[in-house]
This record gives sequence, C-alpha cells and structure tokens, in this order.
Amino acid sequence: MKKLFLCITVVLFTVSAYAQSNDRFYATMNIVDAEALKSDIPNQIDILATKQNEAVVFMSPEAAHKLHDRILVHGPGYIFKASMDDALQALEKQGAPLNRSVLPFTITEDAAVSQVLEVIQTQNIETHILELQEYGTRYHSMPEATQAAQDLKTKWEAMAALYNRDDVTVRLFTHDNTSMPSVIMTIEGAELPDEYVIVGGHLDSTSSQGNNNAPGADDDASGIATITEATRALFEIGFVPKRTIEVMAYAAEEIGLVGSAEIAQEYASNGVNVIGVGQFDMTLFNGSAIDVSLISDFTNGELNNFFSQLMDHYNASGEHQITYGTSLCNYGCSDHASWTAAGYMASFPFEASFGQHNSNIHTANDTFSVSGTASHATKFTKLCAEFLIETAKQDGVLAVDEVIVRNVFAAISQTSLVYDLTATDIIFSTLEVFDVSGKKILQQSITETKGEVSVVHLASGVYVTKFTSANGTSVSKKVLKK
Ligand code: BES
Ligand code: ZN
Repeated sequence: MKKLFLCITVVLFTVSAYAQSNDRFYATMNIVDAEALKSDIPNQIDILATKQNEAVVFMSPEAAHKLHDRILVHGPGYIFKASMDDALQALEKQGAPLNRSVLPFTITEDAAVSQVLEVIQTQNIETHILELQEYGTRYHSMPEATQAAQDLKTKWEAMAALYNRDDVTVRLFTHDNTSMPSVIMTIEGAELPDEYVIVGGHLDSTSSQGNNNAPGADDDASGIATITEATRALFEIGFVPKRTIEVMAYAAEEIGLVGSAEIAQEYASNGVNVIGVGQFDMTLFNGSAIDVSLISDFTNGELNNFFSQLMDHYNASGEHQITYGTSLCNYGCSDHASWTAAGYMASFPFEASFGQHNSNIHTANDTFSVSGTASHATKFTKLCAEFLIETAKQDGVLAVDEVIVRNVFAAISQTSLVYDLTATDIIFSTLEVFDVSGKKILQQSITETKGEVSVVHLASGVYVTKFTSANGTSVSKKVLKK
C-alpha cells in the first residue's frame, strides 16, 4: 500500500513537473540539501523518495544552480540519473550489503612490487598530462573529448604492442547519456579471468569559466596519466596477472558520473565479478602535510583498509615513502560512487585533505604549471601499481628471448636509425619506433636484414625500436637520439 502511494505521488509529481519545464532531470543528492532546496524554491524541485541520507529528486537547472551556491565551491553536489527508475534503483542500493563473497585481501607479491617501483617514471606522467591538457578542452559534448578518447585508445594499444602483450585489448564503451565514449583496456587474467580488478579516472574536463577552455590537468588528466604509467610499468616488468585487470578512462564524470554509472550498472546487471575498484581523480597537487587522503565516504571500509596496509607494507620509509590519512567528500564526488552504488567495493586515494585540494580545478587555470612537477602523482602511480599487483596477483613473467635480443643491433647515429639483424635467424618484416610513453612514432616494412631509416624529424631523447617477423616474433631495443 505504501509502495502504491509512493508510485502515485511519483507519477503526479512527474506530470506536474513536466508541465512546468521539460529540461528538468532526475538526480540523487543528500537529503538535507534536498529539503533545504525544497523550502527555498519549492517549485523547482520535487523530492520523490528518500532512504537513509539520500533523496531522489526531479529538479530544474535553476535548482542545480542554487545547490551549487549553497553547499560547494565546485561541482553540482548531485548525481545525475538518466531516468526515474535509475534514480530509485540507486536509492534502493544505498547501504545495501555487498552481494558477493568478500575476497581476503593479502600482501604476497613483494618481488613484483619491488621491481615495479623502480621502473615508474615521473617524466612519463608529466608528458601524458601535458598531452591531455593540450586538447584545450575535454568537455564531454565537445569534439575534443571524443578525439581524446580515440587517441587514448590508440596510445594504450601502442603501449601494449610495444611490450608484445597479446593478452591486452582496448575498446571504446559508448554511452546513452553522452556522445563521449569511455576507454577500457583489458588485461586478461591467466588463471581467474572472470575475477576483475579495476582502476580508473575520468578523461573529461569542465570549466565554470566556459567549457571551451578546460585544460583539466589535475582534474583529471593526472588520474589518467597515473593509471597509464602504472600499467606501462606492469608491462615493463613483464607482469602477467592471474585475475583480469581493467583500466578505465571514464567519459562525462563532470556532469554527474555519467560514464562510470553506465559502466558500473552494466557490469552489475551482467553479474561481472569485480573484486575491487581504485579511483584516481586528482593526483597532481600536493596540498596537505600527508601525501594521500583516503576518502572514507561512498567507498568501502575494507578496501580502504587494504590501501592503508599496502602503504604500511611498501611505502613506510625510504625513497618510495607515502604518508596517508583519511578525508571526506561528503557527497559522491567522483566515479568510485558509481561502483559503490552498483554494489561493488571501491576506494578513492585523493591528492589532499578535502578543502586543501587544488583550488584551480574547473577553471582555465587547471594546468600542469600550477604544480610544475608530477612527483606527487608518482606516489599515486606507485600505489596504483601496488594495488593492481596485489589484487590481481602474479601468474608468471613473460620470458624474453635473450638470444634474439642480444643479436639484434639498433642505434641512432645522427639522423639515421641503423639496424643490423643478420646475427639472428629470424626474418623480421616490420620496424616500429615508439617514444618512452608508448606512443608509436614510426612504422615501416623492412625487407633487408641491414638498413637505415631517417629519423631526422625526431626530437632528442630515448626511443624504443621494435622488430616483428611475419609469424609475430618480436624484439624491442632502446635507442638514444642525441
Ligand atoms: N575531481 C572532482 C572531485 C573532487 C573535487 C573531489 C574536489 C574532492 C575535492 C570531480 O571531477 C568533480 O568535480 N566532481 C563533482 C561531482 C560530480 C558528481 C559531478 C564535484 O565535486 O562537484
Ligand atoms: Zn571535476
């Protein structure tokens, strides 16, 4: 009876609201904020249902503005929902017990972690942030955002190719509520492929000064650079996971967690067994005395505890030291909240205590130069790699054929790349050149076992050459252009 009453009121409210305006939308938000708005501007918002601290609302853009002025210096403070059903379902899941068996999180992979910590490069993180801020804007509805997603897919594919990973695929995830796709890289688990561990960040950006100038360096090019470099480091040490790893660059976070919500809901409705999710949103700005703030609301206590244990074990002192504490967002402030709402365990290691974070986010000034170094982001990259290794666990290491490697000669002399493959018995047919971040710079067929290729257009620096035979055998060599 109560349910029927709720349904009828919902329908009545909906009808009357639509009569006033058709740009209203559904959302969930904190109940206190919802009630305050209702008493301030009763015609602009309807509270459709409540549970614990959360309310489902149907509200106008004007109410969204009011909310923004009332509670926050940045962002909306509500979570957009595509339909009333979505909103009510999200509310239903509030505080619901996890519907899957809890994995006992353990720390067993000291050997792999100690290797990975040595190969993570701050320079790669910096380069990637600069590349992303160069788009000018990645606001979800602008062509630059979709371009950034397509380019990231290409970059991740090239990175996997560089390290000969045929266990890696990259796909675009298209959405119902934004034209921007998300990007998902999958490293298939060698032993437990149906168990997933996920790390992600959002690829889109926004600016309250106008969305055509939204560099989003900290928010959240830094998170994308963090998860990319952590993954590259895993490839560099030849890490093969037992469980499936997915690395996600979410679309349209800034308009209300749209990309991650659609992904998390699809995973939940397909019963995908995700054992843990790490969110990396803002890792660049070093604003607090502690390095990492573990956000303790809209996250999972047990997984947060595991993140603390990782830092206690691997980052207690020395050159890889990371200090940490906890902080609150007070609302579902990033994509971890989408996973939490879908019933999964998620954590959110954040750049500073809430309030001491980068105050330039959501403006044209959110650029790399505000920090000038990616050293803070490097700490999050280490933590991300530790999390992936310890949750996915190592199955084995890719064997590199030392004999082939030793017999391949490649070097850059002035403006030419010179190679000599005569000492190997393999007939190589393709030559590729990558920069250190994994971006492919050059590709061409080769027919001779010895030769020269012009690299006059390449800037000075380290590059990786890769020779591949027709049957897929390949070997990589680092070269330096002076
Ligand atoms: N990176 C922010 C989240 C954030 C900002 C966390 C400051 C902690 C401190 C994220 O991109 C964002 O802007 N989120 C929105 C909310 C979201 C539901 C649209 C926000 O915080 O207003
Ligand atoms: Zn943001």
